[in-house]
Amino acid sequence: MKNDKIEIKINKLLAQMTLEEKVGQLQQCGPSLVGAFEVSFEELLDMMFDKKITEEEFGRLMSTAKEDFHEDELRAGKIGSYNGIKSAGTTNRLQKIAVEETRLGIPLLFGYDVIHGYRTVMPIPLAEACAWEPELWEKTARVAAKEATASGIHMTFAPMVDVAKDARWGRISEGAGEDVRLNALFGAAKVKGFQGDDLAREDALASCIKHFAGYGAGEAGKDYNRVDMSLQRFYEEYLPAYESCIKAGARAVMPAFNDLNGVPCTVNEWLLKKVLRGDWGFDGMTVSDANAIAECVNHGIVEDKREAAKQALEAGVDMDMSSNSYINELAALVRSGELDEKVLDDAVANILRIKFELGLFENPYQTSEKREKEEFLRTEHRELAREAAQKSMVLLKNENVLPLKPKSKIGIVGNLADRRSEMTGAWAIGADGEDCISLVDAFKEQKIDFIYIAGTKQNEETKEISVVREELDRLKDCDIVIAAIGEDKDQSGEAASRADITLPKYQLEMLAHLLEIKKTVVAVVFNGRPLAIPWVSENIPAILEAWHPGVEAGNAILDILYGRVNPSGKLTATFPCKSGQCPVYYAHMNTGRPGGKSKFTSKYLDTPLKPLYPFGFGLSYTEYGYSNFILKKEKDCFEASVKVKNKGEYDGDEIVQCYFRDVAAKRVRPVKLLVDFKKVHVGVGEEKTVMFSIPFEKLGYYDNEMNYVVEKGKFEIFIGKNSVDCLAGEIEL
Ligand code: NOJ
Repeated sequence: MKNDKIEIKINKLLAQMTLEEKVGQLQQCGPSLVGAFEVSFEELLDMMFDKKITEEEFGRLMSTAKEDFHEDELRAGKIGSYNGIKSAGTTNRLQKIAVEETRLGIPLLFGYDVIHGYRTVMPIPLAEACAWEPELWEKTARVAAKEATASGIHMTFAPMVDVAKDARWGRISEGAGEDVRLNALFGAAKVKGFQGDDLAREDALASCIKHFAGYGAGEAGKDYNRVDMSLQRFYEEYLPAYESCIKAGARAVMPAFNDLNGVPCTVNEWLLKKVLRGDWGFDGMTVSDANAIAECVNHGIVEDKREAAKQALEAGVDMDMSSNSYINELAALVRSGELDEKVLDDAVANILRIKFELGLFENPYQTSEKREKEEFLRTEHRELAREAAQKSMVLLKNENVLPLKPKSKIGIVGNLADRRSEMTGAWAIGADGEDCISLVDAFKEQKIDFIYIAGTKQNEETKEISVVREELDRLKDCDIVIAAIGEDKDQSGEAASRADITLPKYQLEMLAHLLEIKKTVVAVVFNGRPLAIPWVSENIPAILEAWHPGVEAGNAILDILYGRVNPSGKLTATFPCKSGQCPVYYAHMNTGRPGGKSKFTSKYLDTPLKPLYPFGFGLSYTEYGYSNFILKKEKDCFEASVKVKNKGEYDGDEIVQCYFRDVAAKRVRPVKLLVDFKKVHVGVGEEKTVMFSIPFEKLGYYDNEMNYVVEKGKFEIFIGKNSVDCLAGEIEL
């Protein structure tokens, strides 16, 4: 929300600025320190991929370039912001130049990708979402903010609230999964956690939500791909997540790389002006994605960077992340009369506003090397990371194998058990992988005997990994073998889409051999996306989905394996049976021929109708009985309740989910849509009544004229332990 005093200051400052100084405020260097004025990180990567430079040259350029902070340009007032700098010493040094050596002394804004923790790495967002716990989501973001601001970072490019229904998309790991309501709640909690209640506090981290909009819907799960969908679908299934973050107070927005219905988001005036600033009243700043302004040439929407700069600025992109289009083109565009200086002034004002709100003019040095040291990896931060990891893990299968008996003789196989830095997952760039506790570390630290063998070797020439069966035979005396399987961290995240989301052949062979030698296997799966693992699901008696769990990985896994913690996580993205089943998600339409036994129904000939594990699914060490489903219609809402009884031997937390279906409407509606959920603690033998009060307002949709309507008629209401296993009733509106 605008503040009058700040607006006066902005106008005063703007009046003193030269055209070049204004353009300078719009320039963000990065994301790598290779920097903005010679060659960007992306260009350098392209050069390497195109074999214009060798891998060695790339490495050398990267390491020497680290010294280049473009201080001359900074002194000349040509840089308003940096991206990717992570040390209090450097941020303070550069800030000093901005404040003391530039003509107007305007402080810098430091941005960084603080996606799931900073130094204390939390579980990847897709994992943390499985906790279904907004308070936790907020707390972990608060810790990330404390640590990142201690390095002098003012803004994080997070949360990512791109609803993702296709597990092939590598960036599904960075968000809350396939459901719009969960993404909306997750995003709002993250914004609150990052920003705190006063942006001017030294530990407040401004939140730049991304990627606006629809980036998770790229065709076929391929990164950066086109997004083409009806406006109704966009309004119902994608937009609410971003809007919820704006309502929670997010002060910055990053337009997405993709085009939306034919117009790249970076030059999409409808999106950035009509929806964002008009309909939602957003008055913060926008920053392009990396190099995205220049990439409008590739999109084929403009012929050159000059036109790209003009269109992006006019569409509402305030800051240029690393494409140099603004710094090189805008002043000339204004001088030639092609661009109205007022448009430039508005963008500068948006950037100055956030700098004032962050208190940077009064207090430009918000940290010190001392604070940085004190803040990183505090005991309470690690404790929270452990709790978050415990709550994120999802027990997918358990045929009386878990929890492990304290005396069982343990074998561990699979190199993921012993590679600390893999535990961080994608986008943990502020982290040091060595801070992580691997599965092997945890067994050692907790003084539990085990035999560890990687069980594989790599062929130097072909790079193929093969299983060393004789080594696995050393496990013959073990009662239980824990197999660490899954994906490496760089197999998900940006530019990491996969067409085949199965396990590598060697992992399957390894598991098969363990079964051959009659071992009881517990699969612990590390991954950044749902995987198609039907063979594992059928043959391995216990499966714990651990995701990429962060710094406390090993400890949290042992907490669950040994029953010190009863697993409670539930999936927020559907697991497919096969890659070709993607996209597969619970809130699909029924079609005119819903999948069934008959041939002429909506299905594949070679794949089961159902997914491997549905949305909302997750087991625990106890059994919850659901009964007494009661549904009542009140004046403006319906009330639904159910009794949940803990029938097992472990206390537990159960995530009770409420869905609805509009039975007949003027537009087709999903077979089920999550409308609310509650996480309840239920002790052994205890029975709790779980009640939902759902306003009718939540049952609507967008009609052909884009009006939100709630239609009269029949609605089915479901309460259950996942999106399939539900009790159901019907009400009439
Ligand atoms: C590209 C990514 O798409 C975006 O999410 C990230 O924030 C920027 N690079 C900056 O690193």
